[in-house]
Amino acid sequence: EDSDLFPLRSPVVCILGHVDVGKTKILDRLRRTNVQEGEAGGITQQIGATFFPVDRMRPLCNRASENLPASGYSDVPGLLIIDTPGHESFTNLRSRGSSMCNEAILVVDIMHGLERQTIESLELLLARDAPFVIALNKIDCLYGWKKIENAGFFETYASQSQETRDHFDKLFGEIRTAFQLRALNIALYPEAGDDHKECIPVCPTSAHTGEGLPDLVSFLFTYGQKHLADDLRLKPQLDATVLEVKVIQGLGTTADIILSNGALKEGDTIVVSGTDGPIITQIRSLLTPHPMKEIRVKNEYLKHPSIAAAIGVKICATGFETAMAGSPLRVAYHPEEIPVLRDITENE
Ligand code: GTP
Ligand code: MG
Ligand code: NA
Repeated sequence: EDSDLFPLRSPVVCILGHVDVGKTKILDRLRRTNVQEGEAGGITQQIGATFFPVDRMRPLCNRASENLPASGYSDVPGLLIIDTPGHESFTNLRSRGSSMCNEAILVVDIMHGLERQTIESLELLLARDAPFVIALNKIDCLYGWKKIENAGFFETYASQSQETRDHFDKLFGEIRTAFQLRALNIALYPEAGDDHKECIPVCPTSAHTGEGLPDLVSFLFTYGQKHLADDLRLKPQLDATVLEVKVIQGLGTTADIILSNGALKEGDTIVVSGTDGPIITQIRSLLTPHPMKEIRVKNEYLKHPSIAAAIGVKICATGFETAMAGSPLRVAYHPEEIPVLRDITENE
């Protein structure tokens, strides 16, 4: 088919789960950053976004178990991972994050099992029919754990003592039972099969040692390539959501956007919801953090004349002071579209 010739965009991947299960720390380990240690109280309070190019992830993916194909994820250019807060007061942000994703990571602390906001996140994903993988995190906390930095899960599991493996098996069994009580099956990802509705795949991980992260990242690429190709073929229509509106010294009021589909360019006329009615303005500049850097942390920015999905992008424009986080951003390609988009935005 002709459409097979169109390139794939990166999937938007949302990471969800109860407070302190290790969502930000997993991303820190992948980015080689320390975002989590800079957070007030170690608690995430905003949605974040980080782009992971496939070329930067390949060395890590090569350490995944032989159960994954060594190649086969190369058409997906990267992963745009959306970090969310697990604290109970941020249900709206979990909902917003999960509504933008093509696939998701549900993080469960292996020592704590299914906690409250993990269940809430699980229900959001099931309601949206979003495919997801469970990262069973903090395996380094298991009895007598002996780490092998950045190893694939099966390599490190095989090298643990019998007592440590028994501890893993016992906690995994308890968590599987907790899911079964919700009429859901889970299994280690090589055994979970291809239908996530039948059985949810699990990747055991440690954000502290990097163990299991090769499996997790390979899984996300492979799944995107195998099952999301139709969704990930670049389509012309725009799909962009305002994440956050903030004043940046030297830039004025800016809007951080998740560009899930389509493209934006400097000079585009955009329409966004504002507290005092629709905002109609022009894109002055399009900025992104460097790859593998979190957009919500102040960093050096790269400037782009135009940019295509999927990416987190900071837009500079006048009039963003009243812009509303969570609302869609639209582009008027012709002057006649401006009143139409204004009406649509006003009536949302
Ligand atoms: P919120 O965003 O606030 O919901 O939390 P989070 O899920 O992002 O968890 P975070 O990354 O803030 O980690 C919480 C705590 O758990 C920190 O002290 C981390 O160092 C610790 N932690 C995270 N992952 C691991 C892990 O794999 N092993 C161990 N031992 N500790 C971990
Ligand atoms: Mg966090
Ligand atoms: Na935390």
